[in-house]
Amino acid sequence: MGGSTQSLKQKAGSAAVEFVQSGMVVGLGTGSTAIWAVRRLAELIDSKKLAGIVAVPTSAATEAEARKLKISLTSLEAHPSVDLTIDGADEVDPNLNLIKGAGGALLREKIVAQASRRLMIAVDESKLSLQLGQNRPVPVEVVRFGWKTQQQFLEDLGASVCLRIGTDEKMFVTDQGNYILDCRFGPIHNVFQLSAQLNGRTGIVEHGLFVRMTTDLIVAGSKGIDHRKAIT
Ligand code: A5P
Repeated sequence: MGGSTQSLKQKAGSAAVEFVQSGMVVGLGTGSTAIWAVRRLAELIDSKKLAGIVAVPTSAATEAEARKLKISLTSLEAHPSVDLTIDGADEVDPNLNLIKGAGGALLREKIVAQASRRLMIAVDESKLSLQLGQNRPVPVEVVRFGWKTQQQFLEDLGASVCLRIGTDEKMFVTDQGNYILDCRFGPIHNVFQLSAQLNGRTGIVEHGLFVRMTTDLIVAGSKGIDHRKAIT
């Protein structure tokens, strides 16, 4: 096996769908890896290899793709408990802790993840890292009111902070109407502590550190597909 990053993303996303069983409530992640899982799921439903699937999308973009592919959608109101969620990640450490949110969907992604019995993360091998923060910034979603005070708070924690700008060159606004501050901390020595500090700050809606949430990791790399399970 081998191939471009795009083809590895496709392999990882498609491989994760092998764990979906008929009758499941499935969380659909966001991004260029998760979209392959959405497409593979639609193929299996269309060819009747899977039946009775209902899905909870984690973003407007994923919802649009799932609708186009005629996957039956549901909500967390109708199905507050999700059997299996398949999502991507920006950086994954050896304990399967994650940085997510480069696509801006981290709040809904985390809500769906915490409602899921199983969180399956699909990545190409470039996402693996020995220490979170060494490759990617941590996205922090903040309410618009007083956002500069959050920038100050995050800088005081040691981050170099950038307000995210969208492709239209305006401030990026999330599906929930908030801003994102991308925070470069460098290697994060204690993800639990940083996560707790961010959780405790009024005005920070959510952040992209997904700590102890992943149950399964699917990695597509030059040697093939690797399935790792979290140590519980
Ligand atoms: C979306 O908000 C993110 O959490 C994505 O899951 C993450 O950025 C991975 O995206 P790609 O699969 O596009 O690399």
